[in-house]
Amino acid sequence: MSAQRESWSARSGFILAAIGSAVGLGNIWRFPYVSYENGGGAFFLPYLIALATAGFPLLFLDYVMGQKYKGAPPTAYRRLIKSAEGIGWWQVTVCTIIGIYYASVLSWAGKYTLFAVGQQWGEDTEGFFFNTYLQNASELTMAYSSQLLIGLVVVWTMVLLILYGGIKKGVELSNKIFIPLLVIMFGVLVARAVTLPGATMGLDTFFAPNWEKMADPKVWLAAYGHVFFSMSIGFGIMVTYASYLKRNANLTGSGLVVGFANSSFELLAGIGIFSVLGFMAQASGVPVSEVVSGGIGLAFIAFPKIISTMGDAGNLVGILFFGSLFVAGVTSMVSILQVPISAVQDKFGWSKQQSVTIVGLGSAIISIALFGSQNAITFVDVIDNFVNNIGIVFGAILSIIWVTWFNRNKLPELINHINAISSVKVGAVWSFMLTIVTPIALIVTLGLTLKSLLTEGYGGYPVNVQFIFGWGVIIICAILALVLPRIKGHSSHEEQ
Ligand code: ALA
Repeated sequence: MSAQRESWSARSGFILAAIGSAVGLGNIWRFPYVSYENGGGAFFLPYLIALATAGFPLLFLDYVMGQKYKGAPPTAYRRLIKSAEGIGWWQVTVCTIIGIYYASVLSWAGKYTLFAVGQQWGEDTEGFFFNTYLQNASELTMAYSSQLLIGLVVVWTMVLLILYGGIKKGVELSNKIFIPLLVIMFGVLVARAVTLPGATMGLDTFFAPNWEKMADPKVWLAAYGHVFFSMSIGFGIMVTYASYLKRNANLTGSGLVVGFANSSFELLAGIGIFSVLGFMAQASGVPVSEVVSGGIGLAFIAFPKIISTMGDAGNLVGILFFGSLFVAGVTSMVSILQVPISAVQDKFGWSKQQSVTIVGLGSAIISIALFGSQNAITFVDVIDNFVNNIGIVFGAILSIIWVTWFNRNKLPELINHINAISSVKVGAVWSFMLTIVTPIALIVTLGLTLKSLLTEGYGGYPVNVQFIFGWGVIIICAILALVLPRIKGHSSHEEQ
């Protein structure tokens, strides 16, 4: 093991960074519309079940793997079971691909924070988003947009500068600045939102349970998919962050704080956003269901539209909303990139500076080449769907099955390790969840996703786009997971 592995200055630094990682675009942009589309108040039940049966069990597994084996996923898994290094590389590749498109949405949020000053999107917010800003092309093109290119360069420069600072002076320090800023901005936004006329109408819609939806497997799928992305589990982030913890860190106590903080933030985001939707519905005399649009549209089309109806007060709401989205996203983006950086440091013995330069610049170039183009939104949509629903879920299944089924004797070791240093003990329940409930839930989820993608495709995009940017990225994950363990690293001599 590398003697100079960095560490957090205190457990609070780790907790703050882990919250910064978990709270991101997923909470503010994704959770409100995912829950609305999947049964409103009734969605909280599948969501809570997904948290209990997969979220927390896997969060604790990620923590113990990182902290006990002191490495990013390939090293941590290899130290547990030699044959498992490829599982780690699968997770690292998934994470890197997420980083590559995450930067794109992040740059939009940054730019929209500026557009909010004076509400520069005008009346036609949809036309502004697709045509004026993204210059969205209906077919594959090599044409680029200078605005998008500049935004991406700014985001990548900012994130890489933080990462050059390392764990204490980069990641930890940036979270110490950004998390309080986020809490203040978002707190002011939600406080303003719930006092708007019509807010209760929006909240009624958000919380109204549609129990019939619970019989739809897609709702359960959405709950599991969301929990993974939102908690930053199953794709290497929490393993990597936990690897910088000291030997006696309280793992489960930290995990509970991080998990609850993340869910509270998500709930708060739902309350804030639906209050604003209620305001819009009341102002225009239509039901809330008519002002809600799903996905990316909610943040970048519906929200600006609502802001435009608020007069000058809208400037502040817009700046707070997009500013929060940007700040929350930066701390998540930093955690995402730290995974491949840490993985190559472990494997090849490169210095921090070398790793940030090679991995960071490499990812930045791919990201800028893809998402500076006039096809940016198509690429984001397709890659996000495949990488989240197949990449993350499959990586989680692999790790659980490898550890708890094929190498069952390892689980008691992990339990003993957690219990020796943690305030909340784990035991038979955790083991039962990880061995039986989580893998079954995930295998069913993955099976349904594959069935739907293979029979219906995704989003009505042309087959070549789905093949290259959807299935193609999954194939890249598989190739790297198979090839990288075979390459001799500087620590290949290490045994389990
Ligand atoms: N957990 C991060 C998010 O929610 C990736 O955006």
